[in-house]
Amino acid sequence: TRPLKVALLGCGVVGSEVARIMTTHAADLAARIGAPVELAGVAVRRPGKVREGIDPGLVTTDATALVKRGDIDVVVEVIGGIEPARTLITTAFEHGASVVSANKALLAQDGADLHAAAEANNKDLYYEAAVAGAIPLIRPLRESLAGDKVNRVLGIVNGTTNFILDKMDSTGAGYQEALDEATALGYAEADPTADVEGFDAAAKAAILAGIAFHTRVRLDDVYREGMTEVTAADFASAREMGCTIKLLAICERAADGASVTARVHPAMIPLTHPLASVRGAYNAVFVESDASGQLMFYGPGAGGAPTASAVLGDLVAVCRNRLNGATGPGESSYAALPVSGMGEV
Ligand code: HSE
Repeated sequence: TRPLKVALLGCGVVGSEVARIMTTHAADLAARIGAPVELAGVAVRRPGKVREGIDPGLVTTDATALVKRGDIDVVVEVIGGIEPARTLITTAFEHGASVVSANKALLAQDGADLHAAAEANNKDLYYEAAVAGAIPLIRPLRESLAGDKVNRVLGIVNGTTNFILDKMDSTGAGYQEALDEATALGYAEADPTADVEGFDAAAKAAILAGIAFHTRVRLDDVYREGMTEVTAADFASAREMGCTIKLLAICERAADGASVTARVHPAMIPLTHPLASVRGAYNAVFVESDASGQLMFYGPGAGGAPTASAVLGDLVAVCRNRLNGATGPGESSYAALPVSGMGEV
C-alpha cells in the first residue's frame, strides 16, 4: 500500500512531539492504519533551529507551498492562532488534503465555516487536541454520542487555573502567590491572561457547545468571568460551607430545546462533588445526555505529549478514512439555535 503523506505545520512543543511519535511508533501506526505514514514536510517559522529527529531536508518556511503540493494526504496544523492557520487549512482542503488541527482559537471562532469548507471538498477536519489535551471529548461527542441527545457539558477545562485554585485551596495562598508558583513550574505562561481571565476555557466551551448541541457557538457568545478576583477569604468561606471553588465551563441546552447557553466563571462546588477532587493541572468534564445519563471524562488537559496523543489519534482516524475513500462525521446539519452566555444559574 502506498504511504500516506503528512505535512506538519508548526514544530513547537506539540509539533515536535507529534513528529517524534510518528517516528518512534511508525510500525504501530502503520499497523493501525493499514499503510505507512510518512512525514513529507515540516513548515516552521525559524528554519535555523535544530530539531532533533527531523530530517532538515523536510523543513521549509513556505507553509503555503507545502499545503498546495497536491500529494499531501493529511495536514497537521499545530501553529495556533487565527491566521495564517485558517487560510492554510482551507487551502489544504482545496488542494486535496484532510486536516488535523489542535487550534482552539480558530475552531472557537470559525469552526462552522471550516467544517463547511471540509465538506465542500469532501475532506476530514478532526481536532481532538483543541480541547482538553489528551482527554477524548470531541470524538465521543461527535461519534459515540451521535445517537443520543446531549443536554449539558460541564467541567474544568483549564489546567493552569485549576492548578492555581487548587494551590489556594490546599495552602491558603493568595491568588498572586499561587500564580507565581504556576508560572515557576511552567503551567502558566509569562502572560497568563488567556488562562486566568477565562478566554482559554471560553474558547473550549464554544467548541464543546457547538458540537454537543449541533449549532454554531463562537467565543463571543460565551459569557466569561475569570478567576483573578478569587481570594483566600473566598476559599475560607467556601470551606465553611463544605465547598471549594473551581473555574467551570457550563454549556446547556434549554429544557425546550430552543436555545443554548455557554458560560465560564468561578463556581462553588460541594466537596462531595467529583469535580472537587480534580487536583493540579488536570481537567474533568461531565457530559449529560438523555440515554447515557452522566459521563465523566478526566485527565491531563495540556502539555506536549498529551496533546500529541490526541493529534496522533486523529491522524490515525483520518488516514483510515482516506484509505477507505471515506470521510468521518461532519457537521453540515447545524440547527440555528439562539445562543446566549447566561442560562439559569
Ligand atoms: N493553557 C491551557 C491550560 C492549555 O492551562 O489548560 C491548553 O489549552
